[in-house]
Amino acid sequence: MPQVTIRRIADAGAVPLAGLASLLIDAVDGGASVGFLGPLSPDEATAYWRETAAAVGRHLHLWVAEDGEAVIGSVQIARCEKPNGRHRAELQKLLVARSARGRGVATRLMDAAEQYARSIGLRLLVLDTHAGSLAEAVYQHRGWIKVGEVPEYAGLPSGDLIATAYYYLLLTPPPGPR
Ligand SMILES: CC(C)(COP(=O)(O)OP(=O)(O)OC[C@H]1O[C@@H](n2cnc3c(N)ncnc32)[C@H](O)[C@@H]1OP(=O)(O)O)[C@@H](O)C(=O)NCCC(=O)NCCS
Repeated sequence: MPQVTIRRIADAGAVPLAGLASLLIDAVDGGASVGFLGPLSPDEATAYWRETAAAVGRHLHLWVAEDGEAVIGSVQIARCEKPNGRHRAELQKLLVARSARGRGVATRLMDAAEQYARSIGLRLLVLDTHAGSLAEAVYQHRGWIKVGEVPEYAGLPSGDLIATAYYYLLLTPPPGPR
């Protein structure tokens, strides 16, 4: 079996639109609350990635996990563009194909994104996710701090409203005792 590789996509033109569209459709088909109602059409999924790709190389950093030629995972961090917020970014759309879950792909994507965020001098990452989901357990396990939950914030692909949980990760340790 080919090895899983994690790759940062640095140019808009290098974004594998078709593979990422399939990944997003798979997540929505699997019931994940990732911004869309189901069923998600290939056109809608591709349009999302086209728009995302346009920001790559500017304020958005994108990673894909690939098993051979197949895109099996992805994550992105979007840097705040406000003058007083350029030290922070939002981690978005951590997705792993259902057929590839439980093999550490999300862990490797998160390692890459957090490490890169540190390397470019970001000090704070934030994210929101479906409260009570497996993803929430993944973030907690990695040391992300939960701020709280907002009830009925977003819809599942079915349209049912669910609570959203908010998390942050400080990338610089607080100053120790003097
Ligand atoms: C959440 C998600 C990204 C996890 O991807 P994954 O590649 O299966 O995760 P990993 O294999 O890296 O596992 C991460 C951790 O979760 C644990 N885990 C994985 N699958 C699990 C399961 N079914 N039950 C319990 N724990 C599980 C792993 O043991 C690992 O913990 P560890 O570091 O202590 O070993 C994946 O389930 C997914 O794409 N879900 C749908 C999309 C989604 O909700 N994304 C979040 C949007 S904010």
